[in-house]
Amino acid sequence: MTQQYDTIRAVIWQDNVLKLLDQRKLPHEEILLTLETAADTAQAIKDMVVRGAPAIGVTAAFGVVLAARAAYAKNPENWRAEIAEDLDILANARPTAVNLVWALEVMKGLFDGIEGDPEPTLLAEAQRIHEEDIAANRTMGELGSALFPENCRVLTHCNTGSLATGGYGTALGVIRSGYANAKVTDVYADETRPWMQGARLTAWELVQDKIPVTLVVEGAAATLMRQGKVDWVVVGSDRITANGDVANKIGTYSLAVLARQHGVKFMVVAPMSTVDYNLPNGDAIEIEQRAYEEVLSIGGQQIAAEGANAWNPVFDVTPAELVDAIVTEKGVVENPTTEKMAELLK
Ligand code: MRU
Repeated sequence: MTQQYDTIRAVIWQDNVLKLLDQRKLPHEEILLTLETAADTAQAIKDMVVRGAPAIGVTAAFGVVLAARAAYAKNPENWRAEIAEDLDILANARPTAVNLVWALEVMKGLFDGIEGDPEPTLLAEAQRIHEEDIAANRTMGELGSALFPENCRVLTHCNTGSLATGGYGTALGVIRSGYANAKVTDVYADETRPWMQGARLTAWELVQDKIPVTLVVEGAAATLMRQGKVDWVVVGSDRITANGDVANKIGTYSLAVLARQHGVKFMVVAPMSTVDYNLPNGDAIEIEQRAYEEVLSIGGQQIAAEGANAWNPVFDVTPAELVDAIVTEKGVVENPTTEKMAELLK
């Protein structure tokens, strides 16, 4: 159920199919796409119909339900073997957000105990993953906003809200909570080249939920901080490694360096499903590279000079030493280290 300052849902299971709010079309058009196969679900993740690490995880879980339905219809005796190819297709949709493989592992963990039709059990699990993500976001919202001073001014990057999660958001959930408690007075959002998640999605989401937002180009962040207009930078993550290094949308690392230079605090907000204890540090994270056209053009229209090359890594890694606080639903880790991150598991 949505509440004040939280009215948007991008991943919806309805009438036995998966519906996704097409984020490529926002803010100009609000179109719900219907998905009935796992392959189409994987393609939607690849094409950024749905994006944001936790939203990708929730979507993949529903993708497993669609895969199981098809596998059981084709081969009821041996659906576990039949489903393997679809699981692979889902796992390979995008590489950096660990929530995708996390959700697939949770779903696969149920396979052995299922008798008969797998769909009801798997659907209940996907719905639980979805609800738990929203609940984790609300908890992180409280924990993160408790760190803010009165009259706090925040700067955020990319989109980490209801569109990027099961609902409510990670970093944007903390900002929602801070605004609802009258602690946050100003919200600045980076436009977030090249996909414009800040300009198209964060601004749309906050305007929908009646939270005032000021958009800045990435290059303005340094001056904004130098003029003393930001107290906290608040971002999400696609993968946090065992030592507290943070992969997130390209440009996050620049903000962390700028924040340290200007005495601004830097907060990362992510559920435990984003923490990858299997990787020792950020050097081990696979960083997705996307098409050069995303840099050379905007909205399908060529902007760059004909013949120019481009480089398009879509995530970067912020070293743990630049992070003041990692906020999860299990608690807050200040100045993260491998030892402090391990404490979260206890
Ligand atoms: O390429 P995207 O739009 O999927 O990247 C999203 C981000 O980098 C988000 O900051 C991250 O997934 C955290 S979302 C709660």
